Amino acid sequence: MKLIAPTVALHDSWLRAWEEWGTLDQDGAATHWARDLDLRDPADFATWVERLNSDVVPEGYVADSNFWMVEGDEYLGAIQLRHTINSPALAELYGHIGYGVRPSARGRGLAREALREVLTVAYDLGLHRVLLCCRVDNAASISVIRACGGVLEHVRPVDEFARSHGVTTPMCQFWLETAS
Ligand SMILES: CC(C)(COP(=O)(O)OP(=O)(O)OC[C@H]1O[C@@H](n2cnc3c(N)ncnc32)[C@H](O)[C@@H]1OP(=O)(O)O)[C@@H](O)C(=O)NCCC(=O)NCCS
Repeated sequence: MKLIAPTVALHDSWLRAWEEWGTLDQDGAATHWARDLDLRDPADFATWVERLNSDVVPEGYVADSNFWMVEGDEYLGAIQLRHTINSPALAELYGHIGYGVRPSARGRGLAREALREVLTVAYDLGLHRVLLCCRVDNAASISVIRACGGVLEHVRPVDEFARSHGVTTPMCQFWLETAS
């Protein structure tokens, strides 16, 4: 598996992965940048890819780095590193890093491999510790985070703030050292 910058070359494979997910709501994939687009359309897909690779930070967001997990010309998943935490939502519900693996590629350790690599990217950006947030019932993700050295700091109960962001399950807050 390789981590690469998002590319239009994987459009067909990305569409097959979308079918597997059955939803545009795919962790780590930053599909919120595509809400006004039809990703089946090559031109719209190219616009989304351009947004993912852009250094321009839209109002209300923080700078981020987006990577795709690929094997050959097959898209397997996505991982996003947010360079700063500047809001209660990032600090308490989302953290620095999000990721997702397409259903047919799960169970092969890909997320663990991707997270390890992105921790080195974070280190190179000057982040010596990163926050990862994960639902208490997400056993696979908790296992990935622990395998990468995550230390559970707090389990955040559901409250009005969480609900206002659509979060209805307690969230584990893990901190990970980025230097190995
Ligand atoms: C979480 C996710 C990224 C894990 O990716 P993955 O590449 O499939 O991870 P793995 O298959 O290597 O699984 C990691 C570990 O979880 C375990 N695991 C997988 N599914 C599990 C389950 N349903 N219950 C318990 N453990 C599970 C695996 O056995 C493995 O354990 P090990 O490290 O002890 O061998 C993937 O399941 C996914 O995309 N889920 C939907 C999106 C998501 O939840 N993203 C994370 C948000 S915090």
